[in-house]
Amino acid sequence: MSTEISETNPLSNCRLAFIGCGVMAEAIIAGLLRKQLVGPEQVVGSHPRSARREELQTKYGIEMFEQNKEAALKVFPAEPDAASVLVLAVKPQRLRRVLEELKGSIHQDQLVVSIVAGAKIETIADELLHAAVVRTMPNTPAQIGEGVTAWTPSAGVNEKQESQVGAMLNALGKAVRVENERQIDMATALSATGPTYIFLVMEALIDAGVHMGFSRHVAQELVHQMMLGAVLFARESHKHPAELRNMVTSPGGTSAEAIYQMEKGSLRTVLSKAVWAAYQRAESLGEKKK
Ligand SMILES: NC(=O)c1ccc[n+]([C@@H]2O[C@H](COP(=O)([O-])OP(=O)(O)OC[C@H]3O[C@@H](n4cnc5c(N)ncnc54)[C@H](OP(=O)(O)O)[C@@H]3O)[C@@H](O)[C@H]2O)c1
Repeated sequence: MSTEISETNPLSNCRLAFIGCGVMAEAIIAGLLRKQLVGPEQVVGSHPRSARREELQTKYGIEMFEQNKEAALKVFPAEPDAASVLVLAVKPQRLRRVLEELKGSIHQDQLVVSIVAGAKIETIADELLHAAVVRTMPNTPAQIGEGVTAWTPSAGVNEKQESQVGAMLNALGKAVRVENERQIDMATALSATGPTYIFLVMEALIDAGVHMGFSRHVAQELVHQMMLGAVLFARESHKHPAELRNMVTSPGGTSAEAIYQMEKGSLRTVLSKAVWAAYQRAESLGEKKK
Protein backbone atom coordinates (compact mmCIF):
# COMPACT_ATOMS: atom_id res chain seq x y z
CA MET A 1 0.00 0.00 0.00
CA SER A 2 1.36 3.44 -0.96
CA THR A 3 2.26 5.78 1.89
CA GLU A 4 2.64 8.95 -0.20
CA ILE A 5 0.63 11.37 1.92
CA SER A 6 -0.05 14.86 0.59
CA GLU A 7 1.16 17.75 2.79
CA THR A 8 -2.16 19.65 2.38
CA ASN A 9 -4.01 16.71 3.93
CA PRO A 10 -5.01 17.53 7.56
CA LEU A 11 -4.16 13.97 8.56
CA SER A 12 -0.65 13.96 7.06
CA ASN A 13 1.08 14.13 10.46
CA CYS A 14 -1.71 12.64 12.50
CA ARG A 15 -1.65 9.30 14.30
CA LEU A 16 -4.88 7.48 14.97
CA ALA A 17 -5.86 4.81 17.48
CA PHE A 18 -9.10 2.86 16.98
CA ILE A 19 -10.53 1.50 20.22
CA GLY A 20 -12.70 -1.49 19.30
CA CYS A 21 -12.09 -2.55 15.71
CA GLY A 22 -15.42 -3.89 14.46
CA VAL A 23 -17.35 -3.07 11.30
CA MET A 24 -17.32 0.73 11.55
CA ALA A 25 -13.72 1.12 12.68
CA GLU A 26 -12.64 -1.12 9.80
CA ALA A 27 -14.71 0.99 7.37
CA ILE A 28 -12.90 4.15 8.52
CA ILE A 29 -9.46 2.49 8.45
CA ALA A 30 -10.08 1.03 4.97
CA GLY A 31 -11.37 4.40 3.67
CA LEU A 32 -8.44 6.36 5.11
CA LEU A 33 -5.90 3.97 3.59
CA ARG A 34 -7.75 3.68 0.26
CA LYS A 35 -7.89 7.46 -0.10
CA GLN A 36 -4.24 7.67 0.99
CA LEU A 37 -5.09 10.11 3.76
CA VAL A 38 -2.85 8.14 6.11
CA GLY A 39 -0.31 5.35 5.82
CA PRO A 40 -0.62 2.09 7.83
CA GLU A 41 2.23 3.21 10.11
CA GLN A 42 0.03 6.08 11.35
CA VAL A 43 -2.78 3.77 12.48
CA VAL A 44 -3.12 1.41 15.43
CA GLY A 45 -6.10 -0.44 16.84
CA SER A 46 -7.22 -2.52 19.78
CA HIS A 47 -9.37 -5.61 19.93
CA PRO A 48 -9.93 -8.26 22.62
CA ARG A 49 -9.88 -11.20 20.15
CA SER A 50 -6.53 -12.33 18.72
CA ALA A 51 -8.08 -13.65 15.47
CA ARG A 52 -9.51 -10.21 14.73
CA ARG A 53 -6.23 -8.52 15.61
CA GLU A 54 -4.35 -10.80 13.20
CA GLU A 55 -6.97 -10.27 10.49
CA LEU A 56 -6.66 -6.46 10.58
CA GLN A 57 -2.89 -6.56 10.92
CA THR A 58 -2.60 -8.76 7.82
CA LYS A 59 -5.23 -6.95 5.76
CA TYR A 60 -4.10 -3.35 6.41
CA GLY A 61 -0.58 -3.61 7.84
CA ILE A 62 -1.58 -1.70 10.97
CA GLU A 63 -0.35 -2.47 14.50
CA MET A 64 -2.96 -4.07 16.76
CA PHE A 65 -3.07 -4.33 20.56
CA GLU A 66 -5.07 -6.44 22.97
CA GLN A 67 -5.36 -3.68 25.57
CA ASN A 68 -7.18 -0.46 24.68
CA LYS A 69 -4.79 1.50 26.86
CA GLU A 70 -1.77 0.22 24.91
CA ALA A 71 -3.27 1.45 21.63
CA ALA A 72 -4.04 4.85 23.16
CA LEU A 73 -0.53 5.19 24.59
CA LYS A 74 1.02 4.19 21.26
CA VAL A 75 -0.34 7.40 19.68
CA PHE A 76 0.36 9.57 22.75
CA PRO A 77 1.86 12.75 21.21
CA ALA A 78 5.62 12.82 21.81
CA GLU A 79 6.08 16.42 20.64
CA PRO A 80 3.80 19.39 21.42
CA ASP A 81 2.68 19.82 17.77
CA ALA A 82 2.06 16.15 16.99
CA ALA A 83 -1.57 15.45 16.08
CA SER A 84 -3.27 12.42 17.51
CA VAL A 85 -6.83 11.10 17.39
CA LEU A 86 -8.45 8.41 19.48
CA VAL A 87 -11.55 6.87 17.91
CA LEU A 88 -14.04 5.19 20.26
CA ALA A 89 -15.78 2.52 18.17
CA VAL A 90 -17.14 -0.01 20.66
CA LYS A 91 -20.82 -0.89 21.16
CA PRO A 92 -22.69 1.47 23.52
CA GLN A 93 -22.97 -1.15 26.29
CA ARG A 94 -19.14 -1.51 26.40
CA LEU A 95 -18.38 2.20 26.53
CA ARG A 96 -18.36 2.79 30.30
CA ARG A 97 -15.77 0.07 30.89
CA VAL A 98 -13.63 1.24 28.01
CA LEU A 99 -13.69 4.84 29.28
CA GLU A 100 -12.63 3.64 32.73
CA GLU A 101 -9.73 1.76 31.15
CA LEU A 102 -8.61 4.80 29.14
CA LYS A 103 -8.85 7.32 31.97
CA GLY A 104 -5.47 8.95 32.56
CA SER A 105 -3.96 7.68 29.27
CA ILE A 106 -5.07 10.64 27.16
CA HIS A 107 -2.88 13.64 26.46
CA GLN A 108 -4.62 17.04 26.63
CA ASP A 109 -3.67 17.75 22.98
CA GLN A 110 -5.27 14.53 21.74
CA LEU A 111 -8.70 14.51 20.14
CA VAL A 112 -11.29 11.92 21.14
CA VAL A 113 -13.82 11.04 18.43
CA SER A 114 -16.78 8.89 19.38
CA ILE A 115 -18.92 6.99 16.88
CA VAL A 116 -20.83 5.31 19.73
CA ALA A 117 -24.58 5.74 19.23
CA GLY A 118 -26.28 7.72 22.00
CA ALA A 119 -23.11 8.50 23.99
CA LYS A 120 -23.14 12.13 25.09
CA ILE A 121 -20.08 14.38 24.81
CA GLU A 122 -20.47 15.31 28.50
CA THR A 123 -20.34 11.64 29.58
CA ILE A 124 -17.17 10.96 27.59
CA ALA A 125 -15.50 14.22 28.64
CA ASP A 126 -16.34 13.64 32.34
CA GLU A 127 -15.24 10.01 32.36
CA LEU A 128 -11.96 10.72 30.56
CA LEU A 129 -11.37 14.11 32.23
CA HIS A 130 -10.75 15.40 28.72
CA ALA A 131 -12.02 18.54 26.95
CA ALA A 132 -11.60 17.81 23.22
CA VAL A 133 -14.36 15.41 22.22
CA VAL A 134 -16.27 15.00 18.94
CA ARG A 135 -19.52 13.08 18.72
CA THR A 136 -20.49 11.56 15.37
CA MET A 137 -23.40 9.66 13.89
CA PRO A 138 -22.54 7.62 10.78
CA ASN A 139 -24.87 5.32 8.83
CA THR A 140 -24.58 1.84 7.32
CA PRO A 141 -23.58 2.82 3.74
CA ALA A 142 -20.36 4.07 5.39
CA GLN A 143 -19.30 0.44 5.14
CA ILE A 144 -18.85 0.93 1.37
CA GLY A 145 -17.61 4.53 1.61
CA GLU A 146 -21.02 5.97 0.63
CA GLY A 147 -22.28 6.99 4.05
CA VAL A 148 -23.16 10.34 5.53
CA THR A 149 -21.90 11.21 9.01
CA ALA A 150 -23.21 14.05 11.15
CA TRP A 151 -20.72 15.35 13.72
CA THR A 152 -20.44 18.02 16.37
CA PRO A 153 -17.46 19.13 18.49
CA SER A 154 -17.19 20.10 22.17
CA ALA A 155 -15.94 23.62 22.98
CA GLY A 156 -12.46 22.19 23.62
CA VAL A 157 -11.92 21.12 19.98
CA ASN A 158 -9.71 23.50 17.98
CA GLU A 159 -9.91 24.39 14.27
CA LYS A 160 -7.05 22.12 13.27
CA GLN A 161 -8.72 19.17 15.00
CA GLU A 162 -12.02 20.01 13.29
CA SER A 163 -10.36 19.76 9.89
CA GLN A 164 -8.85 16.41 10.93
CA VAL A 165 -12.29 15.11 11.86
CA GLY A 166 -13.78 16.32 8.57
CA ALA A 167 -11.03 14.56 6.60
CA MET A 168 -11.36 11.36 8.63
CA LEU A 169 -15.15 11.16 8.30
CA ASN A 170 -15.04 11.96 4.59
CA ALA A 171 -13.37 8.57 4.26
CA LEU A 172 -16.80 7.10 5.09
CA GLY A 173 -18.57 9.14 2.39
CA LYS A 174 -19.72 12.62 3.29
CA ALA A 175 -19.27 14.44 6.63
CA VAL A 176 -21.73 17.11 7.76
CA ARG A 177 -20.92 19.29 10.79
CA VAL A 178 -24.04 20.04 12.83
CA GLU A 179 -24.51 22.68 15.52
CA ASN A 180 -25.17 20.65 18.65
CA GLU A 181 -26.05 17.24 20.09
CA ARG A 182 -29.79 17.83 19.60
CA GLN A 183 -29.01 17.85 15.88
CA ILE A 184 -27.08 14.61 16.31
CA ASP A 185 -30.35 13.07 17.58
CA MET A 186 -32.11 14.62 14.57
CA ALA A 187 -29.50 13.11 12.22
CA THR A 188 -29.94 9.78 14.01
CA ALA A 189 -33.61 9.85 12.97
CA LEU A 190 -33.02 11.18 9.45
CA SER A 191 -29.74 9.94 8.00
CA ALA A 192 -28.66 7.14 10.39
CA THR A 193 -32.08 5.46 10.57
CA GLY A 194 -32.75 6.63 6.99
CA PRO A 195 -31.47 3.59 5.09
CA THR A 196 -34.19 1.56 6.86
CA TYR A 197 -36.93 3.77 5.35
CA ILE A 198 -35.38 3.43 1.92
CA PHE A 199 -34.97 -0.35 2.23
CA LEU A 200 -38.65 -0.67 3.14
CA VAL A 201 -39.72 1.42 0.13
CA MET A 202 -37.31 -0.58 -2.04
CA GLU A 203 -38.78 -3.87 -0.82
CA ALA A 204 -42.35 -2.66 -1.37
CA LEU A 205 -41.57 -1.58 -4.95
CA ILE A 206 -39.83 -4.88 -5.77
CA ASP A 207 -42.84 -6.76 -4.38
CA ALA A 208 -45.14 -4.58 -6.50
CA GLY A 209 -43.09 -5.55 -9.57
CA VAL A 210 -43.41 -9.23 -8.68
CA HIS A 211 -47.14 -8.73 -8.14
CA MET A 212 -47.44 -7.46 -11.75
CA GLY A 213 -45.58 -10.53 -13.04
CA PHE A 214 -41.87 -9.64 -13.17
CA SER A 215 -39.38 -12.19 -11.85
CA ARG A 216 -37.89 -11.03 -8.52
CA HIS A 217 -34.49 -10.70 -10.18
CA VAL A 218 -35.76 -8.36 -12.92
CA ALA A 219 -37.92 -6.36 -10.49
CA GLN A 220 -34.89 -5.91 -8.22
CA GLU A 221 -32.65 -4.77 -11.07
CA LEU A 222 -35.23 -2.25 -12.30
CA VAL A 223 -35.87 -0.84 -8.80
CA HIS A 224 -32.23 -0.62 -7.70
CA GLN A 225 -31.12 1.29 -10.79
CA MET A 226 -34.27 3.46 -10.80
CA MET A 227 -33.61 4.55 -7.17
CA LEU A 228 -29.93 5.17 -7.79
CA GLY A 229 -30.68 7.17 -10.96
CA ALA A 230 -33.44 9.21 -9.28
CA VAL A 231 -31.10 10.27 -6.44
CA LEU A 232 -28.24 11.17 -8.79
CA PHE A 233 -30.63 13.08 -11.08
CA ALA A 234 -32.10 15.02 -8.12
CA ARG A 235 -28.61 15.86 -6.85
CA GLU A 236 -27.24 16.95 -10.24
CA SER A 237 -30.29 18.94 -11.36
CA HIS A 238 -30.43 20.98 -8.09
CA LYS A 239 -34.22 21.14 -8.53
CA HIS A 240 -36.81 20.83 -5.76
CA PRO A 241 -38.21 17.26 -5.66
CA ALA A 242 -41.72 18.59 -6.37
CA GLU A 243 -40.44 20.21 -9.57
CA LEU A 244 -38.79 16.98 -10.68
CA ARG A 245 -42.02 15.13 -9.94
CA ASN A 246 -44.11 17.64 -11.90
CA MET A 247 -41.77 17.23 -14.88
CA VAL A 248 -42.88 13.59 -15.26
CA THR A 249 -46.53 14.02 -14.26
CA SER A 250 -48.62 14.49 -17.40
CA PRO A 251 -52.36 15.15 -17.12
CA GLY A 252 -54.29 11.91 -16.71
CA GLY A 253 -51.03 9.91 -16.92
CA THR A 254 -49.50 7.07 -14.91
CA SER A 255 -47.60 9.30 -12.43
CA ALA A 256 -50.74 11.35 -11.67
CA GLU A 257 -52.65 8.14 -10.96
CA ALA A 258 -49.89 6.72 -8.74
CA ILE A 259 -49.39 10.00 -6.82
CA TYR A 260 -53.13 10.21 -6.15
CA GLN A 261 -53.00 6.76 -4.50
CA MET A 262 -49.89 7.58 -2.45
CA GLU A 263 -51.42 10.83 -1.13
CA LYS A 264 -54.69 9.05 -0.41
CA GLY A 265 -52.70 6.48 1.63
CA SER A 266 -50.94 9.33 3.53
CA LEU A 267 -47.46 8.20 2.54
CA ARG A 268 -46.03 11.68 3.19
CA THR A 269 -47.58 11.81 6.69
CA VAL A 270 -46.46 8.28 7.53
CA LEU A 271 -42.84 9.12 6.62
CA SER A 272 -42.95 12.34 8.60
CA LYS A 273 -44.37 10.53 11.64
CA ALA A 274 -41.76 7.78 11.33
CA VAL A 275 -38.86 10.27 11.35
CA TRP A 276 -40.39 12.19 14.28
CA ALA A 277 -40.89 8.97 16.27
CA ALA A 278 -37.28 7.93 15.59
CA TYR A 279 -36.09 11.38 16.76
CA GLN A 280 -38.04 11.11 20.01
CA ARG A 281 -36.66 7.61 20.53
CA ALA A 282 -33.08 8.82 19.95
CA GLU A 283 -33.63 11.60 22.51
CA SER A 284 -35.10 9.29 25.14
CA LEU A 285 -32.32 6.69 24.67
CA GLY A 286 -29.77 9.50 25.16
CA GLU A 287 -31.54 10.62 28.36
CA LYS A 288 -31.44 7.07 29.79
CA LYS A 289 -27.68 6.83 29.14
CA LYS A 290 -26.88 10.11 30.92
N1 LIG B 1 -22.65 -0.12 12.09
C1 LIG B 1 -23.24 1.03 11.81
O1 LIG B 1 -23.76 1.26 10.71
C2 LIG B 1 -23.27 2.15 12.83
C3 LIG B 1 -23.97 3.33 12.55
C4 LIG B 1 -23.96 4.35 13.50
C5 LIG B 1 -23.27 4.21 14.70
N2 LIG B 1 -22.62 3.03 14.94
C6 LIG B 1 -21.93 2.90 16.23
O2 LIG B 1 -20.60 2.49 16.00
C7 LIG B 1 -20.14 1.70 17.08
C8 LIG B 1 -19.48 0.46 16.53
O3 LIG B 1 -20.44 -0.23 15.76
P1 LIG B 1 -20.04 -1.48 14.85
O4 LIG B 1 -21.18 -1.72 13.95
O5 LIG B 1 -18.66 -1.28 14.30
O6 LIG B 1 -19.99 -2.60 16.00
P2 LIG B 1 -19.08 -3.90 16.08
O7 LIG B 1 -18.80 -4.44 14.74
O8 LIG B 1 -19.67 -4.80 17.11
O9 LIG B 1 -17.69 -3.29 16.65
C9 LIG B 1 -17.36 -3.19 17.99
C10 LIG B 1 -16.11 -4.03 18.22
O10 LIG B 1 -15.62 -3.81 19.53
C11 LIG B 1 -15.14 -5.05 20.03
N3 LIG B 1 -15.09 -5.02 21.49
C12 LIG B 1 -15.92 -5.63 22.40
N4 LIG B 1 -15.53 -5.34 23.64
C13 LIG B 1 -14.44 -4.54 23.53
C14 LIG B 1 -13.58 -3.90 24.48
N5 LIG B 1 -13.79 -4.04 25.79
N6 LIG B 1 -12.58 -3.17 24.01
C15 LIG B 1 -12.36 -3.02 22.69
N7 LIG B 1 -13.14 -3.59 21.75
C16 LIG B 1 -14.16 -4.33 22.16
C17 LIG B 1 -16.14 -6.03 19.50
O11 LIG B 1 -15.60 -7.34 19.57
P3 LIG B 1 -16.53 -8.65 19.51
O12 LIG B 1 -17.01 -8.73 18.11
O13 LIG B 1 -15.65 -9.75 19.90
O14 LIG B 1 -17.66 -8.39 20.51
C18 LIG B 1 -16.38 -5.53 18.09
O15 LIG B 1 -15.46 -6.07 17.17
C19 LIG B 1 -21.35 1.39 17.96
O16 LIG B 1 -21.29 2.12 19.15
C20 LIG B 1 -22.53 1.83 17.13
O17 LIG B 1 -23.52 2.41 17.95
C21 LIG B 1 -22.60 2.01 14.05
